[in-house]
Amino acid sequence: MQIFAHRGASAHAPENTLLAIKIALEQGVDGIEIDVHQIEQELVVIHDRWVHRTTNGHGQLANLSFAQIRTFDAGQGEQVPTLWEVMALIGGKCRLNIEVKGLKDKTLLITQLLKAEAELGFDLEQFIVSSFDHHLISQIKTLNTNIKIGALTASKPINYAAFAAQLDAFSVNADIAFLDEAFVQDAHQRGLQVYVYTVDEPEDLKMLYSWKVDGVFCNKPGAAKTYIKSLNSQLR
Ligand code: G3P
Ligand code: MG
Repeated sequence: MQIFAHRGASAHAPENTLLAIKIALEQGVDGIEIDVHQIEQELVVIHDRWVHRTTNGHGQLANLSFAQIRTFDAGQGEQVPTLWEVMALIGGKCRLNIEVKGLKDKTLLITQLLKAEAELGFDLEQFIVSSFDHHLISQIKTLNTNIKIGALTASKPINYAAFAAQLDAFSVNADIAFLDEAFVQDAHQRGLQVYVYTVDEPEDLKMLYSWKVDGVFCNKPGAAKTYIKSLNSQLR
């Protein structure tokens, strides 16, 4: 089961900052998850539509300029990073799940992923572009079929993972609150990977591991890695 740092190692550093990414890399994660919004022609790494929870700034992203956002402190003196800065720091050392929260220009993202493959040591297959906006990821897939998309859901649909298969997704990225073993099995039968958020409790890790879930998004990825290693050695 692969361990993804959720918003970076967000229990150990301010979420979605370069510091949180750096700590995640030090913890030897398999992947990192970040949240991305488009501001002007820039892709910025921040979770909320409003900036006050994660920075010392105020206001709604939609009403702020990129220059203004860059003046804010995102915690411990960290700036709100750009997607490019995050990719440059990771440099292909692990996978990157880019959760798109807001994006008007899909080609802006696709161009950056292709450029990261050419210039930053990434393989395109290391990226997963996920979203709760299934229209958006479907359009991205249509524009470039080589990009892996992850269909996010915080529900248990009647036809389980059928919606993700219909999108030609690589993975279903599901909320642990609504996931059960039947959902996992259904997704696997459709050839989909299953990634689950947000998982930090050992009992949850053990349950998902027993269901053969493919990956989990953790705020404390180092602890999760250690725990999974112990489960692996118990079963050997
Ligand atoms: O991508 C998994 C997870 O991050 C989705 O929910 O709200 O934490 O971005 P959220
Ligand atoms: Mg997210």
